Amino acid sequence: AATNRLEAENAVVSQGVVESNHAGYSGSGFVNGDNVSGSYTEWTVNAAAAGSSTLAIRYSNGPASVRTANIAVNGAVVSANRAFNSTGNWDTWAAVSIITNLNAGANKVRITATSADGNPNFDYIDATTPGGGGGTVTADQLL
Ligand code: GCU
Repeated sequence: AATNRLEAENAVVSQGVVESNHAGYSGSGFVNGDNVSGSYTEWTVNAAAAGSSTLAIRYSNGPASVRTANIAVNGAVVSANRAFNSTGNWDTWAAVSIITNLNAGANKVRITATSADGNPNFDYIDATTPGGGGGTVTADQLL
């Protein structure tokens, strides 16, 4: 399946900023969400066909502590209080992946911090093509 990269700096950010002061990111930067519960980053994934998609969320979390967030697709939480483990420092990146169903057309993928620490820093989501047969995903930035 094709994989398409959706850079966080092209996403909608509520309570946060795009920055580029830590190494290793893709594109022009990453999203640093505010250290507050409820802050979120929301990506739009446009799928030509409905079906299952793997969303690989690239993030960094410098402190030793885990950060947690609700991952919602089209308003429904599909992964509650998902753990984003420490990456050891802010220049090291890792991925959390979920498999979820997408609708044909625009899908909203929102990751909302569920603790006062806020979200980890987000670099991008890699989304695989739903359906496995002829569907394509279009994104803010194609690979
Ligand atoms: C530091 C770091 C930021 C990060 C923030 C946080 O300020 O430089 O990139 O977002 O910690 O705790 O979330």
